[in-house]
Amino acid sequence: SKEGFEHYMLKEIHESPIAVEDTISGMIAEIDKIKESVKLINSARRIIVTAAGTSYHAGLLFSILLQREGYNALPIIASEYYNLKTTEEDVILAISQSGETLDVIQAIKKFKQNGSSIISLTNIIESAIARESDVKLYTRAGPEIGVAATKTFTSQVAALMLLYNFISQKDYSYLSKIKEIIRYALNYQGEARLIGEELSTKNNAYYLGRGLSLPLAMEAALKIKEIAYLHAEAYPAGESKHGPIALVEKGFPVIFINDGELTEDLQNNVQEMKARKAITYGISVNKKLNTDKELLLTTDEKLSIFAIIPIIQLIAYYASVKRGNDPDKPRNLAKTVTVE
Ligand code: F6R
Repeated sequence: SKEGFEHYMLKEIHESPIAVEDTISGMIAEIDKIKESVKLINSARRIIVTAAGTSYHAGLLFSILLQREGYNALPIIASEYYNLKTTEEDVILAISQSGETLDVIQAIKKFKQNGSSIISLTNIIESAIARESDVKLYTRAGPEIGVAATKTFTSQVAALMLLYNFISQKDYSYLSKIKEIIRYALNYQGEARLIGEELSTKNNAYYLGRGLSLPLAMEAALKIKEIAYLHAEAYPAGESKHGPIALVEKGFPVIFINDGELTEDLQNNVQEMKARKAITYGISVNKKLNTDKELLLTTDEKLSIFAIIPIIQLIAYYASVKRGNDPDKPRNLAKTVTVE
């Protein structure tokens, strides 16, 4: 049941704090699997991170974290696996909420034939993808009924942050704060609603970010396309001046995602967009971007992405509802994509 929420999507966004907590404690309870994964990753030539849709965005974020630590992490969209010659020296990390996505199954089967080891992160115990894997990691977000992934994405990111902390031998105890950070961000539901309702009147939007905020911008754009049917494109903020800015005219909405790490660079991009009379929005943590409209949150610097995730989901949700759509059942989409 929706337990008083208007839609499953909204209910599931509100379940994110618990989903994350259960995911982390579940992973820690199976710490041997984390250690096995770390061993595989540390002895690999490359770490190929493969997934589809929202799960791919979690994988992209993880790949950036690993690349920064000097790892050879290669994110691959599952349906683009063709002709990638992996070997027994490569380890594959497959991420899938359902664990049944055909694109991902096909990719890992091919990589397995090449002799690569497979680590999977799925939300369904003994899913098809888990069964193909050498190490089966799980998010424990519980069932997700809304077609758009919300709490499962947040849980994937949390699980991958935990894995990253083990790989880079960092203390992971601070991850216990994620729950509180999400709860805190959910207090800004009204602000997210206003932004979503404003965007619902537009035909196009850009979501721009840098660093870890780029996969979040991509996820924000996917979500709003998926349920609000609003054409949105995500771009690396710095790259936006190399083409996409040509579309920007008076009133074009540009939403900046700022996890706080690269604020000064983003501020320059904000000025570029303002100079074209774009309407600029900021979803910012700890540091102001000086956009026309800004939602400024304050949290632990290292976990700032978790304050952003519920906000971008809520923006898409309210844009969808304002347009009269059913956010739980977007047209043309299935919860589990078992076709090519
Ligand atoms: C977006 C969404 C889809 C899925 C994609 C992969 O909200 O739900 O993009 O993320 O179909 O699904 P899983 O994670 O089940 O492999």
